Amino acid sequence: MKTLIQGGTLITESGMGLADILVEGEQIAAVGEHLSSEGAEVLDAAGKLIFPGFIDAHTHMGLPVCNTVTADDFDTGTKAAILGGTTCIVDFATQEKGETLAEGLSHWHEKADGNSHCDYAFHMAIGDWNPSVKAELSDTIDHGITSFKVYLTYGNQVNDRELYEILDALKPLGGIVGVHCENSGIIDACAAKVKANGITSPAGHPLSRPDEAEGEAIHRLLTVARLVDVPVIVVHLSSEKGLEEIRRGRASGQRVYAETCPQYLLLDESKYSLPGFEGAKYICSPPLRKPADNQALWQALEQGEIDTVSTDHCSFTMEQKRAGEEDFSKIPGGMPGVEERVALMLTYAHLPLPQLVGLMSTRPAKLYGMYPRKGTIQPGSDADLVIWNPNVQRTLTARDLHTAAGYTPFEGVPVAGVAETVFLRGQKVVEDCKLRAALAGQYIPRERNSLK
Ligand code: URP
Ligand code: ZN
Ligand code: ZN
Repeated sequence: MKTLIQGGTLITESGMGLADILVEGEQIAAVGEHLSSEGAEVLDAAGKLIFPGFIDAHTHMGLPVCNTVTADDFDTGTKAAILGGTTCIVDFATQEKGETLAEGLSHWHEKADGNSHCDYAFHMAIGDWNPSVKAELSDTIDHGITSFKVYLTYGNQVNDRELYEILDALKPLGGIVGVHCENSGIIDACAAKVKANGITSPAGHPLSRPDEAEGEAIHRLLTVARLVDVPVIVVHLSSEKGLEEIRRGRASGQRVYAETCPQYLLLDESKYSLPGFEGAKYICSPPLRKPADNQALWQALEQGEIDTVSTDHCSFTMEQKRAGEEDFSKIPGGMPGVEERVALMLTYAHLPLPQLVGLMSTRPAKLYGMYPRKGTIQPGSDADLVIWNPNVQRTLTARDLHTAAGYTPFEGVPVAGVAETVFLRGQKVVEDCKLRAALAGQYIPRERNSLK
């Protein structure tokens, strides 16, 4: 099966220009001017932008949290992803207490295999560090899971010794760790104080998780990483305080990768003071910050200090969020965003398109060991292609989106452009903005980090 995509404007991290793309089977066979259409189905892409499939390297599908499970499983969550132009997610396979890594991983394969509309890979979240888990790391990497996550807060956090040991154990194996950076002691104390002062509504959430808690945790992570002498990833960076710590680490010669998300760029903590229980929609950790933090992160993005923009898609319905109606700390944390990310960033980031491709496709592909299979448009790469119509003006609304959360944090936000056609490994899975081929996603084993 051959497809020739003619006359579109190709955008890769290294530049943009008019070119044809010949797709043969699952891969890109050729990129260039005036390619022969012999034997190929021809798709006219004049006036359209053609991006390499976008990668969302931070999602939680089917994740059990707070006695419930995220509203989106792999079916609904990846349908939302592919319709938004994301052709590959990296989800967090999670080891629960008492489980082996292999057991945690096999649960994630059960959730994802055969149920995914886009390609998927896994990070491994370590929830129970012990010597036998250490012995499993090498096999986990052999299975194509080269990145790991640890939390410095929540019930399953690692302590400083465990953090050191995990980084140290992964160093000779070439595995990399992404870290949720918030100081849990500060959060526990602040939450107790806020509640003692009679604040139980969502307005208490940002008060209980100050930006200092993120700054301190990043500082501590970087101290440990410096001692072990390994690069690390700060995931979902939310604050200027955290950014300053990353700058300090880099200035001292450390390799630190930083990820942020659209909600930390576009939304602020005023959402938590919306009337009634509306603020619960925006409960996520770290919390939304102040407009000054939004500005600092935009600037960091423009200056090339942020490596990737992911979503931390972790969706709950309002009914699920109501578990915390009497106590903000019991509201399941997280929000949807996997379908909105690309349109939001293409509309609101004042960045050249190649740089945006870097942040949402090429750099995550490199950091998470999928490049050049994913993350670019070149012969031999998977034909994951997003044909974007930039001339459609629309308004984001839950009615049009596919998350099972039933709401979008970006309700009423105008965006420019839409993923009109999406190819996943050569198969046209989205046409006229509709899913035409279901459940075509495959597991993608990964190599080690190649992002310098
Ligand atoms: O509140 C959030 N972000 N929930 C998802 C889990 C995490 O911390 O990444
Ligand atoms: Zn996190
Ligand atoms: Zn997350």
